[in-house]
Amino acid sequence: MLSSGDCRDSGRLGRRGPETRGDYGGRQPAGLRVRQIRPAARSYENEVQRCNPGASVLLVADETITIIDNRTGERSDIPIVNGGIAASSWRKALPDVLFTDPAFMSTAACESSVTYLDGDEGILRYRGYPIEQLAEHSTYLEVAYLLLHGELPTAEQNEVWIHDITYHTFIHENVRKRFLEGFHYDAHPMGMLVSAVAALSTFYLDAKDIHDSDSRMKQIVRLIAKMPTLAAAAHRFSVGMPFVYPDNSLSFPANFLSMMWKVAEPQFVTDPALVRALDVLFILHADHEQNCSTTAMRTVGSAHADPYSACAAAAAALYGPRHGGANEAVIRMLNEIGSLDNVDDYIAAVKQGKGRLQGFGHRVYKSYDPRATIIKEIADQVFAVTGKNPLLDIALKLEEVALSDDYFISRRLYPNVDFYSGLIYQAMGFPIEMFPVLFAIPRTAGWMAHWAELLEQDAKIVRPRQLYVGHDKRDYVPVDQRS
Ligand code: ACO
Repeated sequence: MLSSGDCRDSGRLGRRGPETRGDYGGRQPAGLRVRQIRPAARSYENEVQRCNPGASVLLVADETITIIDNRTGERSDIPIVNGGIAASSWRKALPDVLFTDPAFMSTAACESSVTYLDGDEGILRYRGYPIEQLAEHSTYLEVAYLLLHGELPTAEQNEVWIHDITYHTFIHENVRKRFLEGFHYDAHPMGMLVSAVAALSTFYLDAKDIHDSDSRMKQIVRLIAKMPTLAAAAHRFSVGMPFVYPDNSLSFPANFLSMMWKVAEPQFVTDPALVRALDVLFILHADHEQNCSTTAMRTVGSAHADPYSACAAAAAALYGPRHGGANEAVIRMLNEIGSLDNVDDYIAAVKQGKGRLQGFGHRVYKSYDPRATIIKEIADQVFAVTGKNPLLDIALKLEEVALSDDYFISRRLYPNVDFYSGLIYQAMGFPIEMFPVLFAIPRTAGWMAHWAELLEQDAKIVRPRQLYVGHDKRDYVPVDQRS
């Protein structure tokens, strides 16, 4: 389980021992100077200490912002820590002024040591490990352990972890019979998954013990383990096929494929290249910092809801076409384009504001999405087994045209992870309705890592403010007097 030190030990904020403010023990890092703390800095330090008991703040000379309230002439210095400034310090200096940032474009909503992302440089690291190395050498379950515990498992820890996940893959029969099979025959599997995950909270009443670290880890294992079972059950129901029970002799991705596709054979067997491709896709989707669904997870988790309810909220956010539904939208778009001859017209229509190029653009990545580079290699490996997806040529042409067009260049719009993931999933036989579900399975590890982290941080309940722009006070008008 995460230790309370996890979130504090890895960043520049919170260096402990001799490397704390004013106590470098003669080992002051080059380029850093410790200065006398000014009043604003001290109040910031107090704030950090309150939120992170035991943490200490490393202040760097001149890394302050000075604000002057032109209404009063009052001046305040606010320290920059870890590349951020505490809005609470600004509020003290400007008590009647709120910050407006509706989509959190410029707001760090929390401190986190789970995932590092640099959108300009195209860098993604889980707990410090580059995504390229994890995709090449690791497995999804090992990555899930890393995200949750902060370190790669030893061989022994890995064995226990795989065993624990494998032996929690079964779902209560009533989850399948009463909930999943209660849906309308054409229900979207993502809607089924969101509901089924929320329903799990009614089966595991100990999930409410969120302050008990053993109970927390038990729910985390259950969620990671049961997600593929729920996902496959949703698919089997939607195509009228009988439910396939988990096969504990198979790996995590192979078991999922078995639950999806097994018919009457004693054991499901598939090409190892497809199993590995799915595992790498799971690694690539396991976490992505404070994205929309993780923010939903942290928001609901901050209210101390049980993890199943919070996870259902995160999955609901992932359902949206601007987020986890994007790869589904990509396939629909490629089908709509239909032929190479129509690519130029489609791009022209997008430039006129008639829709968006699905799978292009990202809130954070502004040079390239490192996951998209890896996924293109996976696509080649999968197509070598399954045969080329006929939509691939349209996708490649679309990418080529867009990447040389000033509209997309000037707005720094590049293919994101979902531009190619849908083509791979489709080639592997997954119906497009399953695409967001395939995203939710691995992202559960990331959601859980953030949930555990926020509880370790004893984070306050999320409660943003607003700028009220409605009516001033007015008196109630009885219905017969309204015009
Ligand atoms: N196609 C065409 N134009 C686009 C696209 C696109 N895919 N994305 C952004 N733009 C344009 C906007 O129209 C806007 O142009 P303007 O300045 O002339 O008005 C400009 O680029 C900036 O767009 P925003 O919407 O402000 O960018 P934002 O960072 O809010 O949006 C998002 C990011 C939602 C991912 C957006 O790029 C998008 O809708 N992409 C398509 C959907 C998609 O692929 N989503 C998957 C994201 S990755 C994931 O969740 C795993």
